[in-house]
Amino acid sequence: MQPLRARRVLLGITAGIAAYKAAELARLLVKDGADVQVVMTRSATQFIGAMTLQAITGRPVRDSLFDAQHEAAMGHIELARWAEVIVIAPATASTLAHLAAGTADDLLTTLCLASTAPLLVAPAMNQAMWAHPATQANIGVLSGRGTQLIGPAVGEQACGDQGAGRMQEPAQIRGAIHDLLMKSGALRGKRVIVTAGPTREAIDPVRFVGNRSSGKMGFAVASALVAQGADVTLVAGPVALPTPGGITRIDVESADDMHDAVFTSLPGAAIFVACAAVADFRPARAAEQKIKKTDETLVVEMIRNPDILSEVSASPARPFCVGFAAETHDVENYARGKLLAKGLDMIAANQVSASQGFEVDDNALLVLWEGGQQRLPMQSKSRLAAQLVELIVDRFNAQTATEDS
Ligand code: PMT
Repeated sequence: MQPLRARRVLLGITAGIAAYKAAELARLLVKDGADVQVVMTRSATQFIGAMTLQAITGRPVRDSLFDAQHEAAMGHIELARWAEVIVIAPATASTLAHLAAGTADDLLTTLCLASTAPLLVAPAMNQAMWAHPATQANIGVLSGRGTQLIGPAVGEQACGDQGAGRMQEPAQIRGAIHDLLMKSGALRGKRVIVTAGPTREAIDPVRFVGNRSSGKMGFAVASALVAQGADVTLVAGPVALPTPGGITRIDVESADDMHDAVFTSLPGAAIFVACAAVADFRPARAAEQKIKKTDETLVVEMIRNPDILSEVSASPARPFCVGFAAETHDVENYARGKLLAKGLDMIAANQVSASQGFEVDDNALLVLWEGGQQRLPMQSKSRLAAQLVELIVDRFNAQTATEDS
């Protein structure tokens, strides 16, 4: 049996005595059916030959950002998107420091920065280096960002010292990779639609009614869903964000356009996440020509837009529906009201103000569902999205299990 069949593991190897054990780890992963791409730091090649790893994995080892031949075959950004999980074994003190600082000065650290895949590190270093406050502070930063840590083990070290710093054994690292991949592939084969960003409602050919949504939260949710293996269609209002890897993007302008794009994509969707800040009203008529400022006042009659989320939730064969609620006050009460009124399975409420929720990089959510709730504290939108998606997966699975029984 090959429990990791076709799962994509990027194995980073950095410069430590334990690098030789990475060959055994690669062998175990290949035996489990995984596609393993090895990326070594230049110094790591002093400890183990790239040929050995190439022979085990059947793939040329990558060690440079500036290798024109390899970049032509699969560029480093593509490689970052390819990985379902990144494992660094052994991870030196220096590599941990680079990861904590977010520097990208070689291929491996660049890939870690460019990837949304879960990261597992197996530290290996002298016991005094491991115990040093600088290393411990870096570990704290990485753990806070969700990096998984395995080891180090305690024992006799190559330098003769005794203590914590030995790389964990390959069989145990393999077990941790299994756990991560089992968790991270929870939505494989599921189609998910996400809306993100604002809508623009035309007043005339050059003016519109809009709002401050940047799309950051919705794009982060879409990426987190892809990291769980989902097949994601992202319906995006006008935003200036690049398309995250592995996503089908449909760009729209108005609420009506967003409504049509969502309903065209809906057949077969298992989950719908409505993160867009859809304008509730639009001008009853958009002037065909630019409105001239002939009068002191301008009255624009506004009419209701379709409520996309409510309509999806009320549709036959509806998907699991997750809404967002942007509230300036009394967040929980209003969010509960929307959960019920729109017939949702889950709602993620955020407090918004001139400096919170919209546009900024960090956010916090109160997630509510029938019979439960969870607060997700202030953190980067990408990390928050990963936690929200874990909750979605739990509730979605619980609901599917009930329906099947
Ligand atoms: O894009 P960012 O700058 O990162 O900001 C993120 C965010 C603050 C926009 C996001 O976190 C958020 O809260 N999105 C929902 C904003 C909103 O419109 O909330 P609402 O309470 O007005 O709407 C409730 C729900 O109904 C939302 O899921 C909304 O997408 C949906 N809706 C609303 C109106 C409408 N006509 N159709 C809808 O589908």
